[in-house]
Amino acid sequence: MSAAVSDRVTLVFRGVRAIDPALGLDATCDVVVEDGVVQAVGAGAGDALVGSERARVIDGTGRWLVPAFVDLHAHLREPGQEYKEDIASGLAAAAAGGYAHVCVMPNTRPVNDTRAVTELMLARAREVHGPTLHPIGAITVGQKGAQLTEMGDLREAGAVAVSDDGVCVMNAQVMRRALEYASHFGMPVIQHAEDHDLTSGAVMHEGAVSARLGLRGWPRVAEDIIIARDILLAEYTKSRYHAAHISTLGAVRLMREAKARGLEVTCEVTPHHLLLTDASVIGYDTYCKVNPPLREEQDVEALVTALADGTLDAIATDHAPHSPLEKECEFDAAAPGLMGLELCFGLLLELVHAGRVPLTRLLHALSTGPARIIGLAPPSLRLGARAELCLVDPELAWSPGQVTLHTKHKNTPFMDRVIRGKVLLTLARGEVVFDAVARGGSES
Ligand code: DOR
Repeated sequence: MSAAVSDRVTLVFRGVRAIDPALGLDATCDVVVEDGVVQAVGAGAGDALVGSERARVIDGTGRWLVPAFVDLHAHLREPGQEYKEDIASGLAAAAAGGYAHVCVMPNTRPVNDTRAVTELMLARAREVHGPTLHPIGAITVGQKGAQLTEMGDLREAGAVAVSDDGVCVMNAQVMRRALEYASHFGMPVIQHAEDHDLTSGAVMHEGAVSARLGLRGWPRVAEDIIIARDILLAEYTKSRYHAAHISTLGAVRLMREAKARGLEVTCEVTPHHLLLTDASVIGYDTYCKVNPPLREEQDVEALVTALADGTLDAIATDHAPHSPLEKECEFDAAAPGLMGLELCFGLLLELVHAGRVPLTRLLHALSTGPARIIGLAPPSLRLGARAELCLVDPELAWSPGQVTLHTKHKNTPFMDRVIRGKVLLTLARGEVVFDAVARGGSES
């Protein structure tokens, strides 16, 4: 990550395409960031600063300046599994990926089911010059699905939501109480929707490919059945419900219907579920093992359509680093999960380049959409806003395998992919937390 030296230098983005869908802004102009705040946006706004000693002028030609991203779903593994990732390496990866805010899931060791663990995470994040970290507390003690956590304590300590991600809250009574309890503290309940009885022993999507490979499959209905139940519970309890990493066309349909009925339900999708199908598993590539599993073409189609029409509120990375110990083994034994913080934006720009998703929708789902779900003021190019911005080169071709990545492990099937579009610089909390402008996109 870049040093803090240049943090408070005035930045002038010259002739950049400034895009902020929430403001209806899309213009080629100058953007001036002074004292960590967006001071001016407009043609010639930086003229007076060119040549000034206190200003750094960054050529914006052919580049975009957009609100920095907000990830609702990352596994940074600290405390307890620092050999996979830690808060410093995870936040460095997030900065390189264009993120100003990262929510971290509670499936750490110990589980983040207490104020002490939440506070520890926040203290570790404060030592890092990087994006802001937001802990997500567990719904149940030890993520065991039985006893609710002290959600008021978690909230007071800094948690922004509750989730048992990695496991599903299977018991409907526990889920009902969780929705009621969390709503007292203004927190959404984030569900990992998987009926564990229907997925027992499953390691990939259930379909023609799993049959051919001889691997136990997890059927779509295992996800849909939980989402259907939870929507009914959210309606009954009048509370906020968020479905993590939805992956099936049925889940899309259920969410669309629930939203049309005016319920306060939201959902997220991962880059891998938007780009890959279960056919990727044909070579038994453990980097394609993930939970929920990669689905079929029709699911991918439904998810892309839902991103384009706004049914999907957020794109979440589900950044889940694992060491070779957990991935260089037979498919059945491998841990599920892909790392993704540094690749997400570039990978998904593919959908924009292909004309399948409008750029404004992609940017919304990466920033404003997720910010709203956790009650965060969305990153913005508004005058006077704290600068949480991201400079990107939409045309720069690169490959993850050819740059220095900050995450500790490279568990992704996208390592050799030629990606068109890259983050060059990230501002979080008004400070530069990633800077690869001088190196044309690759950080040393
Ligand atoms: O693939 C996954 N990996 N899905 C999850 O829900 C958890 C995550 C992890 O923690 O590795």
